[in-house]
Parts: sequence; C-alpha cells; structure tokens
Amino acid sequence: MKITVIGTGYVGLVSGACLAEVGNDVLCVDVDARKIDILKSGGIPIYEPGLVEMVKRNVAAGRLNFTTDVEASVHFGEIQFIAVGTPPDEDGSADMQYVVAAARNIGRYMKSFKLVVDKSTVPVGTADRVKVAMQEELQARGLSIEFCVASNPEFLKEGAAVDDFMKPDRIVIGTDSEKATQLLRSLYTPFQRNRDRLVVMDVRSAELTKYAANAMLATRISFMNELSTLAEKLGADIEQVRHGIGADPRIGYHFLYPGCGYGGSCFPKDVQALRRTAQENNVPLRVLDAVELANEAQKSVLVNKIQARFGDNLKNMRFALWGLAFKPNTDDMREAPSLTMIEALWRMGATISAYDPAAMDETRRIYGQRDDLTLAESPMQALEGADALLIVTEWKAFRSPDFETMKSLLKNPVIFDGRNLYEPQTLRAQGFEYFPIGRRP
Ligand SMILES: NC(=O)c1ccc[n+]([C@@H]2O[C@H](COP(=O)([O-])OP(=O)(O)OC[C@H]3O[C@@H](n4cnc5c(N)ncnc54)[C@H](O)[C@@H]3O)[C@@H](O)[C@H]2O)c1
Repeated sequence: MKITVIGTGYVGLVSGACLAEVGNDVLCVDVDARKIDILKSGGIPIYEPGLVEMVKRNVAAGRLNFTTDVEASVHFGEIQFIAVGTPPDEDGSADMQYVVAAARNIGRYMKSFKLVVDKSTVPVGTADRVKVAMQEELQARGLSIEFCVASNPEFLKEGAAVDDFMKPDRIVIGTDSEKATQLLRSLYTPFQRNRDRLVVMDVRSAELTKYAANAMLATRISFMNELSTLAEKLGADIEQVRHGIGADPRIGYHFLYPGCGYGGSCFPKDVQALRRTAQENNVPLRVLDAVELANEAQKSVLVNKIQARFGDNLKNMRFALWGLAFKPNTDDMREAPSLTMIEALWRMGATISAYDPAAMDETRRIYGQRDDLTLAESPMQALEGADALLIVTEWKAFRSPDFETMKSLLKNPVIFDGRNLYEPQTLRAQGFEYFPIGRRP
C-alpha cells in the first residue's frame, strides 16, 4: 500500500518505519525542515531503541522516504495518517491547530479517494472536525471527491516504541465506514499474525479509549505515590505493599511503581485534556482531578526530602542528578520531573551536575550554557564534589553502580532516590544516608 504519514515525530517516524518494514511504500512529511534534513542525511532526530537501523534498512530498500513537500505527500498515499502533535492549550484542552492544518492540506490538494486516519491523541469529536475542514477545502475548489476519516489511536511506549508497533496488544480502529475498516484491516494484517488484535468501534469511542487508557495508568501511579507517603509515615514499606497487591491478578504488577511523579509528552497533557473535556460537558471527573493534583505534589517529594536534610538555603551546594529524560530509553524531556527538580534547586541557590545516557543534547537545547549546570560525561563524573546524588530516571545503567567509587567521589555519601533502585539496608550498611520513596527507615 502507499501511505503518507503526516508529522515525523516519535509516533510518525516509528509508525512510518514499521509500516515500511512490512513492505508498504511510505512517505513521511513534516513541516520541520531540520528534522527532514537529518532523516535525509541518514540520521534520526530522536533516540528510540532499534529505530535507526529500521529507518536505514527501509530507506535503502526504497520503501521509506521523507519530504517537506506537502502537495506531493497528499498525492502519494491513499491512506494519510495524521501523527502531528496535540500539545496542551492554555486552558489544558488539546491544541488542535496542527491536526486541522494537516486535514486542510489534504482537502486542498487531494485528487482521488483518501482514507484519513487520526493517529494523534485527539479529543472526542475530532474526526468530525477533520471531515468538516476537508469538506470546506474541497468546496473552495468546487470539487466533490470521496474520502473517509477514521480514528486509530496509538498506544506505543517511548523507549519500546518499535516493538510495541510491530507487536501491538491491540489495534483500535474507530470508524463507521466499511471501506475504512477493510483498508485498515489489511494494512494491519502483518502485525497480528498469531491472533486478531483489531478492536473496531465507533469513532467517538475510539477517541475516548486513548484518553481512558492514559488516565487509568496515571491513576495507578498517583495512587501508589500518595500511598508511599502514608507508608513512610506509618513505618511501612511501599515496595512490600506493591508486591502484596500486585500478586492479585485483578490488580497486577504493572504501573504500581512509586516515584517522583509521572511526566512525558502524554500522561500530563492527556489527563489535562480529558479533565477539560469533562468540564466542558459538566461531568465531574473527581478521581482524575486528584490524580493530577497528587502528581504535581509528587514532583516536589525529593526536593522536600533535600530541604529536610540540608535546609532551605542550598547556596554553595552542588547536587548530582542521574537521569534527565522523563523515563528510561528515551531522550524525551517533555514535562520531565527532572526539570521541576533542577529549577527548584536553582531557586534555593544550588548548582547541578547532571548525567543522562540519552538526553544530554535535549538538556543542552532546553537550558543552553549556564554556570549553575554542568553536563557530565559519565554518571561517576557527575558525582565529583557533589553534596548529594538525586536519582530521577530509572535507567538500567544506574541499577548496580560501584558504591565504593561513588562514596569516594561524593562530598557526603547521601542519595535521594526518586525511583527506589536500591535496597535501603544494603546502602546503609555501605555507609550511605539513603532517602528512597515510601520505604522503611
Ligand atoms: N510520544 C508518544 O509516546 C505518543 C504515544 C501515543 C500517542 N502519541 C500522540 O501522538 C501525537 C504525536 O506525538 P509525538 O510525540 O510524535 O509528537 P512530536 O512533537 O514528536 O511530533 C509531531 C511532529 O508533527 C510535525 N507537524 C506539525 N504540524 C504539521 C503539519 N501540518 N504537517 C506535517 N507535520 C507537522 C511537527 O513538526 C513534529 O515533528 C500526539 O497527539 C501524541 O499525544 C504520542
């Protein structure tokens, strides 16, 4: 099949590469010429395991191409995936300007049938807006050309995106068109060889399903985070509680890790957008209101522990930070808890020396050159002369470090662990002051 993917970010690039991998001809279009230049010269603009090899392979096979030429991209694919960003607007609702612009472009240039598929996370009713925008453009051209609009929300996880796309646990399709269902069923057949994973439903339910999934996951995290604070007060250990409840198959072990707050490009904005939709429809979502409040509070939990240990004035103090990306295996720092922590520590007069296996360039892009931020070349270099270490992202490389070397590099053997990577007793036996989340003192 010939497919156009509009928006070549985390979702668009992964989708485009994976669709080419199974034999389709894919053209990825983006308005960001810098991204397209990087891709055309053989690089990739993001860090995602396995992606660079897949992109190279499919470009070499002639099945995957990149362009900034919108008109050519509209002519190319019978199926047009919209995978542009839907960032939060000022009031928390999803900003739909990029989706609508993409729809208008299709209406402006199409000459034959198109199946337009919303892959971006979009509020309920967006497929209708896309239809109207395309219809208006066609009318302006005095044309009537058949098209369908379907919703196909994406559930891939950054850090495991290629695997998630190639082996999805479900493929949600929202449409009332038989033609759209058939086209998407045959497009996705190669990704579901051992059993049918297609869940076909009406468009509005598909649009809501994506928000419901992210809201549920965020709820589990905030629930555990609040419980971890209580566990600490009560002298209980949240890690033992996690095991105790996770063993119940009705609960399961996933997404029960307490930490220093969720971040990323999806949970915060999707929770906000769903709350906004609920407000507009006068339906209270009290649970979700609390989920967001709890998460905001949780981002300060390590800084509060630092204040309790070192006081409010951190002038002349230096903190080492391990992990900047919002989660491991990505360079994405959108809404990362590391940003909240760095800025809070700066406000109290401290300086930071930070290390992340993938997000150093992104940190440089966000903060530029500053006297109060050193970007270290290794985890150990970040510790040199630091008053304490903060662990913010649970990269595998941080799980079993050489504690003796760490002690010799740090000014004080103090660790604030926002991801509960270590056993408190082991660390204390090694002479560390260790401050994890919700664990027994
Ligand atoms: N990142 C994730 O893990 C993830 C997972 C599932 C769903 N989603 C959703 O997918 C959507 C895209 O997310 P992302 O993280 O890939 O965003 P991104 O910011 O990485 O990429 C979006 C791209 O779209 C481009 N763009 C904007 N307007 C355009 C236009 N009119 N024509 C062509 N390109 C245009 C931008 O330049 C950018 O490169 C969002 O709605 C997001 O919520 C993201």
